Amino acid sequence: MYMSTDEVRNAFLKFFESKGHQIVDSSSLVPHNDPTLLFTNAGMNQFKDCFLGAEKRAYTRATTAQRCVRAGGKHNDLENVGFTARHHTFFEMLGNFSFGDYFKQDAIAYAWEFLTETLKLPKDRLLVTVYETDDEAFEIWNKQVGVPADRIVRIGDKKGGKQYESDNFWTMGDTGPCGPCTEIFYDHGEHIWGGRPGTPEEDGDRFIEIWNNVFMQFNRHADGTMEPLPKPAVDTGMGIERISAIMQGVHSNYEIDVFQKLIKAAAQTIGYQDLSNQSLRVIADHIRSCAFLIVDGVMPSNEGRGYVLRRIIRRAVRHGNKLGAQGVFFHKLVGVLADVMGSAGEELKKQQAVVEKVLRIEEENFGRTLERGMAILNEALDNLEGKVLDGETVFKLYDTYGFPADLTNDVAREREFSIDEQGFEEAMEAQRQRAREAGQFGTDYNATIKTQTHSDFCGYLATQGSSTVTEMFVDGEVAESLSAGDKAIVILDETPFYAESGGQCGDTGVLKTQSGVFKVEDTQKLGNAIAHYGVLAEGVLAKDDKVETLVDAKRRAAISLNHSATHLLHAALRQVLGEHVTQKGSLVKPENLRFDFSHLEAVTPAELKQVERLVNAQIRRNHIIETQIMDIESAKQKGAMALFGEKYDDEVRVLSMGDFSTELCGGIHASNTGDIGLFKITSEGGIAAGIRRIEAVTGEAALDTIEMQQAKYEEKLAESANKAKALEKEIQKLKDKMAAAESANIMGKAQEINGIKVLIAEMEGADSKNLRTMVDDIKNQLGSGVVMLANVNDGKIGLIAGVTKDLVGKVKAGDLVKMVAEQVGGKGGGRPDMAQAGGSDITALPQAIKTVQPWLEERL
Ligand code: ALA
Repeated sequence: MYMSTDEVRNAFLKFFESKGHQIVDSSSLVPHNDPTLLFTNAGMNQFKDCFLGAEKRAYTRATTAQRCVRAGGKHNDLENVGFTARHHTFFEMLGNFSFGDYFKQDAIAYAWEFLTETLKLPKDRLLVTVYETDDEAFEIWNKQVGVPADRIVRIGDKKGGKQYESDNFWTMGDTGPCGPCTEIFYDHGEHIWGGRPGTPEEDGDRFIEIWNNVFMQFNRHADGTMEPLPKPAVDTGMGIERISAIMQGVHSNYEIDVFQKLIKAAAQTIGYQDLSNQSLRVIADHIRSCAFLIVDGVMPSNEGRGYVLRRIIRRAVRHGNKLGAQGVFFHKLVGVLADVMGSAGEELKKQQAVVEKVLRIEEENFGRTLERGMAILNEALDNLEGKVLDGETVFKLYDTYGFPADLTNDVAREREFSIDEQGFEEAMEAQRQRAREAGQFGTDYNATIKTQTHSDFCGYLATQGSSTVTEMFVDGEVAESLSAGDKAIVILDETPFYAESGGQCGDTGVLKTQSGVFKVEDTQKLGNAIAHYGVLAEGVLAKDDKVETLVDAKRRAAISLNHSATHLLHAALRQVLGEHVTQKGSLVKPENLRFDFSHLEAVTPAELKQVERLVNAQIRRNHIIETQIMDIESAKQKGAMALFGEKYDDEVRVLSMGDFSTELCGGIHASNTGDIGLFKITSEGGIAAGIRRIEAVTGEAALDTIEMQQAKYEEKLAESANKAKALEKEIQKLKDKMAAAESANIMGKAQEINGIKVLIAEMEGADSKNLRTMVDDIKNQLGSGVVMLANVNDGKIGLIAGVTKDLVGKVKAGDLVKMVAEQVGGKGGGRPDMAQAGGSDITALPQAIKTVQPWLEERL
């Protein structure tokens, strides 16, 4: 019975739904609430707390199709992908779960029913394993299900390993829920090499594990102790790709529908023919993990999850390159992937454009160095004596060409070499050391000064107090007393000075004794102590002195406004741009605030305006800024935004501003959002691929900014008005000049009619004001005579006539223009010596002008 992968997924979920299970969505690949896990690596991850009894849900049975990544961490398959039939960086795990509901008996019965009745797999192809001492599971399989004893294999702990180190004892990681398991194997047939589980040939490909049913019984602690769970539970996992392979009558996972389509698409995009090439498998596998990691919010970077993603992308790009890919190709597979994933591809479809862009940028960046790196690597391998590439070269490739060590290893392996991993690690460590030393160079007291002293911080509400000097340092050495002019670090037993952290800068102010004044220029953490950096301005200061502590309160107030505004900005960005916006860094100073966040495009002016308005609206709502101390779990339940990758204590400070913003934060804030007064964004720009930076001001500084901007505009406006006036004058002058020149020019056209001087002319492009000047001019030059000028300007006809005083008895200028105007669709008239008219029929104008001469001949 053929079934597509999508059909298998649906059949599984429906089957367990019919057995009273709640269908639950796959959780994110980035495990929430679990710092011990790099990526979600099994269906049970999201239910970890349900197994431990720490979380109660509305159901006790659940079923999921969970996306998983096994690259890095305890379950890491990256290096094997492409070289075997069944390893993937990304796969989907079908699972059914019981939280203290059913146990071994039902779990085994359900699994058998699904495989043999729903999927109709032949019973004689199935084989099971149980944990060596799990007689109960053995009996259920044998007596109740009817699997013959010779098809049930007991598997014990690994030879030389610890207790429970066994293929039939499943653990999620070094700690957490775990228990014995029973695994179901499928026999792909005699024609494939391999032995039954537990035999020396078990690693062959004939007997393939398809489903693992774990009987969760313990919570393993870091020290190795096994605490029994409150109620035994069930966690199962079946790789959808393996079971689909069986349902599609193929042996390798890469032959199933999903992979075949991806492989074909990859081949087509790259322009490569041989579909059996291993590199195509690698690419088809990697596009799945990369695309879904990005969907779940991971961005390529140089550390943590981001670095694993970067490594996978680079590995894929390198394989494409090996097949002769010209230019970028990898991101072009995202659309195909979203299609082939069926019901599991919906979110990817929504985010397709973003995922493509992140991948394309990463491909382009890596593409630039790939070729040179490959040339260097191949040359090193060509000249290699022996079979192991030295760690220095591996490091150089990493450092200069961005080749992750596993990629170098991959290339080396293809040419039957290996790499010196330890040597690479040593070179990496040496670099870290160099970086540390470079960082300390002559600047940072922190790096050299070590103190065991502890200071209490009492500055959340106060900016003043009294305290005692507990320790002092000058030039990195402990000092018992200071004299005027000494630059020093002063540590107090308690202080209202805030030490820089969480993006908020350190306080400044003064420490006063009866005789001495210490000016605090900066405050930093030094271990558990709060260190006041500054200079003794006058008097003396000694250890154990009592001091008055005075924070620069005005500066502090400005900082706290900016800090509160930063939270509003964060929340507003998420509302306007989307939930993908996460904080990547921040700097809160008295003058302004800076906020870095993940977002792919420039924020448009319209979006910026919207963000600014939203923040200001929340300022006007004047929320009380509330602080609560609670345990981290309650904080997360409250929906508090926490920084990804940040380590928080069990007790955290949760800051909320109405229903608009809830964040974990140790910093200092205004008491109401209204205190911020006004929020104004001053700049927006990109600082790295996918990371934007906004700078903004609040309160007085915002007003100052607006005033300054306004003053600048006014200045500019006045400047351009003056310029325009000057230009107009200039133009008028030029026009007059041109008119004069023109009239001089056209004097040549003057003629005589009955002994009287007459000038009839058509002017080009002159405006009517100039015509009048010209007519006056011409009349003067004629002394005695008649002038008639016509022009066409902007599609309109202008007519003007002038008659010198001595002749107005014979001819009237008004009559003359009227006569012409009537012929060109206009009307006109005016004084006897000067008259103007208009018209619109431009085509009739030449003929009308011709009538002027006979008309004058009759009258002069
Ligand atoms: N959690 C079990 C596994 O991953 C089912 O194999």
